[in-house]
Amino acid sequence: MVPQSQHGSPIHLIHRSILLCQGKHEHIQEFFSGRLQHLTSFVLPWEFVSISPLISISTSMMAVVFRIIQAAFLSVTSWVLWKLFRNYVLRKPLDNIPGPKPSSWLTGNISEFEHRKSGWSFTEDLESKWNNVVRMKGIFGEDMLYVFDPKAMHSILVKDAHMYEKQEWALTLTTVLFGKGLLSVAGGHHRQQRKMLNPLFSIAHMRAMTDIFFQISYKLRDALINETSQGRNEVDILNWFGRTALELIGQGGLGYSFDPLVKNIPNTLGDAIKCALPSIGGTLMYSDLIPVAYKLGSPSFQRRVVDMIPIKAVKEIVKNIDTMTNECQNIYNQKKAALLAGDDAMVHQVGEGKDIMSVLLKANMNADEKDRLPEDELVAQMTTLVFAAVDTTSGALTRILDLLAMHPDVQDKLRAEIKDAHENGELTYDKLVDLPYLDAICRETLRLYPPVPSISRGASEDMILPLSEPIVGVDGSLMHEIFVPKGTQLFIGILSSNRNKALWGEDALEWKPERWLLPSTKELSDARIPGVYSNLMTFSGGGRSCIGFKFSQLEMKVVLSVLANSFKFSLSKNRDKVVWNSAGVVFPSIGYETTRPSMPMHIELTD
Ligand code: HEM
Repeated sequence: MVPQSQHGSPIHLIHRSILLCQGKHEHIQEFFSGRLQHLTSFVLPWEFVSISPLISISTSMMAVVFRIIQAAFLSVTSWVLWKLFRNYVLRKPLDNIPGPKPSSWLTGNISEFEHRKSGWSFTEDLESKWNNVVRMKGIFGEDMLYVFDPKAMHSILVKDAHMYEKQEWALTLTTVLFGKGLLSVAGGHHRQQRKMLNPLFSIAHMRAMTDIFFQISYKLRDALINETSQGRNEVDILNWFGRTALELIGQGGLGYSFDPLVKNIPNTLGDAIKCALPSIGGTLMYSDLIPVAYKLGSPSFQRRVVDMIPIKAVKEIVKNIDTMTNECQNIYNQKKAALLAGDDAMVHQVGEGKDIMSVLLKANMNADEKDRLPEDELVAQMTTLVFAAVDTTSGALTRILDLLAMHPDVQDKLRAEIKDAHENGELTYDKLVDLPYLDAICRETLRLYPPVPSISRGASEDMILPLSEPIVGVDGSLMHEIFVPKGTQLFIGILSSNRNKALWGEDALEWKPERWLLPSTKELSDARIPGVYSNLMTFSGGGRSCIGFKFSQLEMKVVLSVLANSFKFSLSKNRDKVVWNSAGVVFPSIGYETTRPSMPMHIELTD
């Protein structure tokens, strides 16, 4: 997944709104500037006084300097004020797109949209109360678009994707956090990295990883059996899934074992990853400070600047990122040494050289000079993969178990399917991926509860956004396409697309795995949703879609098949205290007061 703060931070938006206003409104700006200058010359009467010829010259020079400073100050002030407040006085191209009233004149709809408590219901309202393209307000009245019209999403993510890149602040932020990995680069640089990495996520590679995944899932099963045998039937299942997802990407992705999964022990790296996203959420207000620091001086100077930011949440992030980066650099060094030592050394590594990074390192060595990735970008891929893989998949697995605990009938049916498919106590890759009910449960959960509810992009030029269905504008006119001004921030409404009643039917808000056992509807096939997976936007679409979606599906299926075969899951006595928090990646916690992700679950061994 997608470990970046996806929503525009206020500072970013202020900064961007300043950059945006160039060209056509300059005459108004001059007028505004002139008025202010005139006004403040009364407030600041810096007239020079002639006492003697000598003093008169220096005083007159001083007066000139004062005048220049005064003019510069006034120009800058009026320019900033104009950029900040122009949204309240000018008519703008997106005024005609209906959308919710901003709850604050300063922060628009941002605080509701990004709030961990209200974010989910606010987003649900965007889908149920408005059109498939909704105008939202950002900081200082800036217009933003929330989009879940299939054709518009296709334009943003596929057809015109080069004009709707991730915004610079987001790329810089992930560069500072993870280095120049897939999440942090754009354009040709991104295409070059995807070209090297795409083959590593093929079905053939996934198949080769199945055994590793089963071995890790058996360790998880044994650890949970150990818990129950000691009378501990209430477990924090999110914690166990977090550790398992880390071990799966560790062994499958990096060829490295982070966690023996033997008992409930603290894990520095696991904790760093688990806390990284929630702690980033707390710094959205300051995220633009990091890109600013990034442009100042050398990396060591930048680091000192970041270290000096006296904000606890920033310090927490830096600590987490350091832990991740150092661990990944160590793993890289070991892997490189084994690769140089030859095939014998590789097969003695964890994962026997089948993991993604081992294959990448080999492919990189053999690649043409122009395609080859430098060492820092290889290490950055490791941090990126670990970060993107863990919270998303562990959150999805936790959601599935939560739903299975709420629906014991579905759970029983799933268990029966899994038990039936075993031959000599084992499940092969082909049997596993073909289990229809398991597949339906995974898809339905990822549809209704996408771990990443929305992603963000920015229009780099004035664009025309095509629509599948025309929308009625505020003035009552029918709009078949939308003019999107350069610099507009757009959100792809993953949650809304996955729940769109026009496509999924009147029961779109119900969790019904059975819907996947029926043929797809005409509405869905005709819609041409640009998602890479089953008409869902859960893993996004186009050249920046989730590279790990097959990896993630396989790990979910392996873990579920092993656990459902051995355990019965039921709701914990503390389940009513659990809330699912809206965030870059949705997570459960015990109430909203804590940022610590957690999900208590009652488990029992099956007969
Ligand atoms: C249920 C699990 C997952 C979900 C819902 C998910 C979702 C997503 C989404 C929505 C994006 C697009 C982000 C954007 O464009 O802003 C993305 C990108 C990405 N995901 Fe996942 N992801 C999951 C699991 C994984 C796993 C297991 C891995 C690694 C093995 C992974 C690696 C990545 C990477 C590297 C990207 C960036 C791709 C690029 O920019 O080219 N994800 N993911």
